[in-house]
Amino acid sequence: MAFSIKVNGSTHSVDVDGDTPLLWVLRDVLGMTGTKFGCGLALCGACTVHVDGVATRSCITPIDSIGSSAVTTIEAIGATAAGAKIQKAWLEQEVVQCGYCQSGQIMSASALLATKPQPTDADIDSAMSGNICRCGTYVRIREAIKRAAQLTEQGG
Ligand code: FES
Ligand code: FES
Repeated sequence: MAFSIKVNGSTHSVDVDGDTPLLWVLRDVLGMTGTKFGCGLALCGACTVHVDGVATRSCITPIDSIGSSAVTTIEAIGATAAGAKIQKAWLEQEVVQCGYCQSGQIMSASALLATKPQPTDADIDSAMSGNICRCGTYVRIREAIKRAAQLTEQGG
């Protein structure tokens, strides 16, 4: 069945079953491989994208639930104000180790910063608790989110 979905500002027509997870439409149909597969069960956060700005696990989100919502992926998050600050802070803090979890981490952190420009530790815990990092970069992730909030404060 054909679905029309809006991803990173462009509309795509895709011919897949309605229960196909958004993750596989992005990766296999649209060739956008920045969004990663980890568990397929909403347990790791590697597949996180934004649906209308909300951090969403694409591995359990069927394509037929998207409708006219705007999907944003790691490929375009740097074009958003919060995403640009998060990416800058990530580089400054040298967060990344193997990198596998990091697109999901950045998408969750960007959604947090977009809604809470000055997040508390509790806000960070709540927003990031579903994103697993096998390399244990959690301390640097927290520092980078705080650094991104400073950039927000400075208008940078
Ligand atoms: S792959 Fe979606 S949460 Fe793990
Ligand atoms: S950087 Fe390796 S899993 Fe997070």
